[in-house]
Amino acid sequence: MADLTNKVAIVSGGATMIGWKTAEALRDAGAKVVLADIAEEAGEEAAEKLGPDVIFQRTDITDDEQIDACIAATVERFGGVDCLVNVACTYLDNGIDSTRDEWLTALNVNLVGGAIFVQKVVAPMRERGGGAIVNFGSISGKRAQLGRMLYAVSKAAIIGMTRNQALNLAPDNIRVNSVSPGWTWSNVIRDVSGDDRAKADLVAGPLHLIGRLVEPDEVGATVAFLCSDDASGLTGTDIAVDGGYTAIGPEQKVDQVSKLME
Ligand SMILES: NC(=O)c1ccc[n+]([C@@H]2O[C@H](COP(=O)([O-])OP(=O)(O)OC[C@H]3O[C@@H](n4cnc5c(N)ncnc54)[C@H](O)[C@@H]3O)[C@@H](O)[C@H]2O)c1
Repeated sequence: MADLTNKVAIVSGGATMIGWKTAEALRDAGAKVVLADIAEEAGEEAAEKLGPDVIFQRTDITDDEQIDACIAATVERFGGVDCLVNVACTYLDNGIDSTRDEWLTALNVNLVGGAIFVQKVVAPMRERGGGAIVNFGSISGKRAQLGRMLYAVSKAAIIGMTRNQALNLAPDNIRVNSVSPGWTWSNVIRDVSGDDRAKADLVAGPLHLIGRLVEPDEVGATVAFLCSDDASGLTGTDIAVDGGYTAIGPEQKVDQVSKLME
C-alpha cells in the first residue's frame, strides 16, 4: 500500500464519488487532504465522513482567487502542499453543435482550471522540495464516442498537458502523471442507470476486459500510488485504469479469423 505519511494533498472535485474515494485512498495512506469543490453540501458531508484529517474548502477552479484561497487554507491548516489531484470536471457537451460559449466553459473547467491549479501549487511544492500531481484523463480522451466533443477534447488535452507539465516541472522535483479511467461506478453512472448497478454492469461490462465497471476505489488506489514515492520513476505518463477498455480494438471479442474460415 502507498505510504503518504506526513503528506498533504488537495483534491479538486473531491465532493463527488470518484473524488471522495480518491481522498479516502490518500487519507488511508496517511495524507491530510483538502477537498476543493463547488458542491458545498456534498463536500462538507464527504469531509465529515472522512474524519479530522480531511477538510472541505469551497473552491471554484475557474476563479484564480479561489484557487489561491484554497492553497492558502491548505498551508495554514496542514503546513504545506505535497500532492494535487485534479478530479473536477464538467460533462457539458453538445457534441458537434456545441456553441463557442459551451466550448469555452467546458475547457475552462476541465482543462484551464487544472492548469492554473498546477501553476499556483508549484511555489508551495518547491518549499517542500518537490511534489506529485495527478490529472484526470479518460478513455474519452483516447477513443471517439458518439455525441461527444467538448468533454473528449478536454480529456485528450489533459493527457497532452500532463506531458508538458512533467517536462517543465521536473527540475523542481515535481512529478506529473494522469489516470484515465474507463466507465466507473460514479454519481453520473449511478444517476443515468437509476442507481441500478447490475444494469450499469450489463451495459458497460462488454466494453471492458474485466466485464464490469471500474470501481472508484480502484481509481483512488492508483492515484495514491502515483502520489507516493513508490511511483518515483513515473512522470509524464498516463495510467489507464480502464479495465482493459483501450486494449480492445474494433474486433472486440469477435474472432475474425475463425469467421473467415467458416
Ligand atoms: N464517471 C466515469 O465513468 C469517468 C470515466 C472516466 C473519467 N472520469 C473522470 O473522473 C473525474 C470524476 O468524474 P465523475 O464522473 O465523478 O464527475 P462528477 O460530475 O460526478 O464530479 C465532478 C466534480 O467536479 C466538481 N466541479 C465541477 N465544476 C467545478 C468547478 N468549477 N470547481 C470545482 N469543482 C467543480 C463537481 O461539483 C463534482 O463534485 C472526472 O475528471 C472525469 O472526467 C470519470
